[in-house]
Amino acid sequence: MRPKLMALLLIGSVFPAALLAADPPWVARSRIGMVASDSPEASRIGADILAAGGNAFDAAVATSLALAVARPHSTGLGGGGFMLAYLAKEQRVVVLDFRETAPAGATADRFAKLQAQGGDGPSPSIYGGNAIGVPGQLAGLTEILKRFGSLPLKQLAQPALELAQTGFVADEHYLDACTAALADYEKWPQLKQRHARLYETLLGKGTPPKLGDRVKRPDLAEALRLIAKDGPDAFYQGPLGEAVARAAQAAGGTLTRGDLAAYRVREREPIRAVYRDSYEIVSMPPPSSGGVCIAETLNILDAVSLYTKRYFGPEQPHALVEAMKHAFADRARWLGDPDFADVPVKRLTDYNYAVQLARWIEAGKTLASSSYGGVAAPPDDGGTSHFCVADNNGNIVALTETINGPFGSLVVAEPYGIILNNQMDDFAANPGQPNLYGLIQGEANAVAPGKRPLSSMSPTLVFRVRDAKPVLVLGASGGPRIITSVVQVILNIVERRRPLDEAISAARFHHQWLPDEVYFDREPPRELADMLRENGHQISEQRKTSIVQAIQFLEDGTMVGASDPRKGGRPAAPPP
Ligand code: GLY
Repeated sequence: MRPKLMALLLIGSVFPAALLAADPPWVARSRIGMVASDSPEASRIGADILAAGGNAFDAAVATSLALAVARPHSTGLGGGGFMLAYLAKEQRVVVLDFRETAPAGATADRFAKLQAQGGDGPSPSIYGGNAIGVPGQLAGLTEILKRFGSLPLKQLAQPALELAQTGFVADEHYLDACTAALADYEKWPQLKQRHARLYETLLGKGTPPKLGDRVKRPDLAEALRLIAKDGPDAFYQGPLGEAVARAAQAAGGTLTRGDLAAYRVREREPIRAVYRDSYEIVSMPPPSSGGVCIAETLNILDAVSLYTKRYFGPEQPHALVEAMKHAFADRARWLGDPDFADVPVKRLTDYNYAVQLARWIEAGKTLASSSYGGVAAPPDDGGTSHFCVADNNGNIVALTETINGPFGSLVVAEPYGIILNNQMDDFAANPGQPNLYGLIQGEANAVAPGKRPLSSMSPTLVFRVRDAKPVLVLGASGGPRIITSVVQVILNIVERRRPLDEAISAARFHHQWLPDEVYFDREPPRELADMLRENGHQISEQRKTSIVQAIQFLEDGTMVGASDPRKGGRPAAPPP
């Protein structure tokens, strides 16, 4: 059956392969360096730093600060992130965790108590002061710079500062995010008073900017000026932190200056998995679920093909959906901050465990999934941003950063324009209830003071086993769909040998165990949908997106950068 299935998977794409005589505008090639982010302005700023002699880490810091300006709905100083990087000289992968932590006042029963008090409007883990985790973003960036950078923070902050003064260009994705946020302001009119600053500034009191308008952020420019002058102390010990704590408390939260002063970046050991003996996948460990779920999914797929000799062909999508469901069921049950919960990483990423699960996968059948119903619809991508950087010395940075939902908690730390995250919703804030992304989560991810909420962010490197050379760096935004999109792009490259542009623009699907449905990001190719239905899967009518940024390293030394056309990013390279 379906000899054309794999082709359909790839050809059902934004830019059909047949038309791609030349690279599309969201692909760039270089031999001396590359930045692929979801903002053309941020990529250009990063590439300029490479051209000025900065290394990949310098460029990553400049890119991230520029994203804080140009993608206010996705990332910024009020959020946090993860970096996974390759140090070429030492041939070593290093992982830094600068995820938000729960404030000291955020106890396990806090959200239950707030719910019991009732109150109008959206869940307190989504909007308002209680949604805010202690931001780790600036601590992370300055740690990256201190350990691996070569240029001063002042120089790296300057382009972002100028972008904040001159304004970033409003693109379609940004306007979509504004429209979605305004729909919530209309649904709950009390938000206009509670979170007036965001409404009156970036959201234009209900009239957001037009396509192509420049959006200036003078308040954030002032924050960047203080950071350029005083470094992280301006935030964790100084006036910016004061503004953050004041804003969080005025919006009903508990976050204090003490929480900010206590914030620490953590170094972690990456998750590793070998796929079909040929590629080593190196990805983000807990408190992200990304590396564990990617390793578990690929291990199951590998085991299915290797041990059972089945599904390694057109039927693979069924096996892939089943593998996703196993990985997300384990995510729900076992994963959380390893500093607080006993997370069985070794068992979940063990190949023998995958073999056990692979044996349960049968053609024409899905396993009985429990009858949990009423699962909330996840929002679209918007609260996260990923970028990749490579320099001409072989250093590679993959950095995913987030404020969680679009425009985070809606709370703005005035007068600095810092939009504060709603990362507390990534905890199992209301046990048994789906979160913003429709995820049901377990005890390991319960709220506790100082704990980091479970994430799906998956900065990932792929190495060729034969010569230990990096072949791909990638990551994504899109909540739990980050994990499944990273898996599918890896498969498109290492197994289907597709060029990077096709690997990224191809239709993608997603299953997160609950709700028990397969989501596509566009109308699925009919044969693929029929085949999944024949195997017992429900196909959702809802469309769910994820946004991938990647750099591929070709054997001839070319770096191919690609920014997913779904969000309007562009890669940039230093001039030759
Ligand atoms: N806030 C999105 C994530 O960390 O998965």
